[in-house]
Amino acid sequence: MPSISFYQEELISHLKEKISVKEPQNLYEPISYIMNLGGKRLRPALTLLATDLLNGDYKQALPAALAVEVFHNFSLVHDDILDDAPLRRGQQTVHEKWDINTGILSGDAMLIMAYELLSVYNNPEFKVLIEIFNDTSLKVCEGQQYDIDFETREDVTIDEYLKMISYKTAVLIAAALKMGAVIAGSGDEQQKALFNYGMNLGIAFQLQDDFLDAFGDASLFGKQIGGDIIENKKTYLYLKAKELGSKAEKKELADLYSLDPRDPSVKIRVVKEIFHSSGAVDKTREAIGLFTTSAFKELEHLSDYPGAEETLRDFGEELMSRED
Ligand code: IPE
Ligand code: IPE
Ligand code: MG
Ligand code: MG
Ligand code: MG
Repeated sequence: MPSISFYQEELISHLKEKISVKEPQNLYEPISYIMNLGGKRLRPALTLLATDLLNGDYKQALPAALAVEVFHNFSLVHDDILDDAPLRRGQQTVHEKWDINTGILSGDAMLIMAYELLSVYNNPEFKVLIEIFNDTSLKVCEGQQYDIDFETREDVTIDEYLKMISYKTAVLIAAALKMGAVIAGSGDEQQKALFNYGMNLGIAFQLQDDFLDAFGDASLFGKQIGGDIIENKKTYLYLKAKELGSKAEKKELADLYSLDPRDPSVKIRVVKEIFHSSGAVDKTREAIGLFTTSAFKELEHLSDYPGAEETLRDFGEELMSRED
C-alpha cells in the first residue's frame, strides 16, 4: 500500500489541474491562496486511501477527495471569520489579508466548487455521494453554531461538547472515508466501519486540536496559541477544569472567562496553569487515547482487506502525536 504522502501528492496534482485564478481575481485569488497554503491534507488522503484499501481505483476517487478538501478549506475560511483568527497555516487568514467580505464570498464560491467537483460521478454512486455530502455540510454548520452558542453559555456539558465536535469536525473525516468506500463499491459493513472509525478518530483529532490550541508550539501549529481561551471556547480542557478544579480554581476560571482583556497574555497564562493544576490536561490526554482506541476497534470489520487494519491504525497513531 502506498504511503499517505503518495496520496497527498496525487491530490496536489489534481488540485493544480482544477483550481486556477481567473476573473474576478478578488474572488479566486483568496481561494488559490488558502488551497496552496498547504495544511496536512488528511481528509482527501483518507478518501483515496479508503478507496485503495477496499480494492477500488484510487484515481476514481480524486474528484471526491478534492471536493472534501475544498469543502474543508471553505469551512476554515469562514471559521476564521467566526473565531476572529489572525493566523492559519502560519500565514495571515483570508479575512486578515483581504477583508471579511472577501472571506465570505470566496468561501461561498468554494462550497459551490466542492459540489461541482462531485458532479463528475454518475448514478447510483452520485446520489449516494451527494447525500453524504449534504448531511455532512449541514452538520458542520450545526456544529459551528453550537460552538458559537457555547461561548456565552456557562452550563455546557461534556455530552454537549462531544456532540458539537462530532458535528463540526468528526463527520467530515468520517464522510471522507465513507465516500472512498462508496467509490470502491464496497458494502454497508465496510462503509459503516470506516465511517465509525472516522467519527471516533475525528473526535480524538478535535480534542488534540483543543490541546494544541493552548499548549502547542506556534511555529508548528500555525495558528494563534491561546485563541480558544481568548474566545472563551468551551473546550474539553475548560469543561474538565471546571469539573475537577478546586473551588478557587473554578472561581478564577469563571472570572477569567467573563473577561475580554485588550492584552490577553495574563488570561491565557493563568487559564493554562489551571488546565494543568486541575488535572484537565491529563483527562484530555486520556480521552484522546480512549477515542483512538474506539476508532481502532471498528477496523475489525475490515479483516478481509489485507493491510487495511494496520494502515489505518498507523495513521491514527501518527495523528495522535501530531504537533501541527
Ligand atoms: C483544522 O483542521 C480544523 C479542525 C477541524 C481542527 P486541520 O488540522 O486538518 O487543518 P489543515 O488542513 O491541516 O490546516
Ligand atoms: C474547526 O474548529 C471546525 C471547522 C472548521 C468546521 P476550530 O475552530 O477549533 O478549528 P481551528 O482550530 O480554527 O483550525
Ligand atoms: Mg477556529
Ligand atoms: Mg471554530
Ligand atoms: Mg481549534
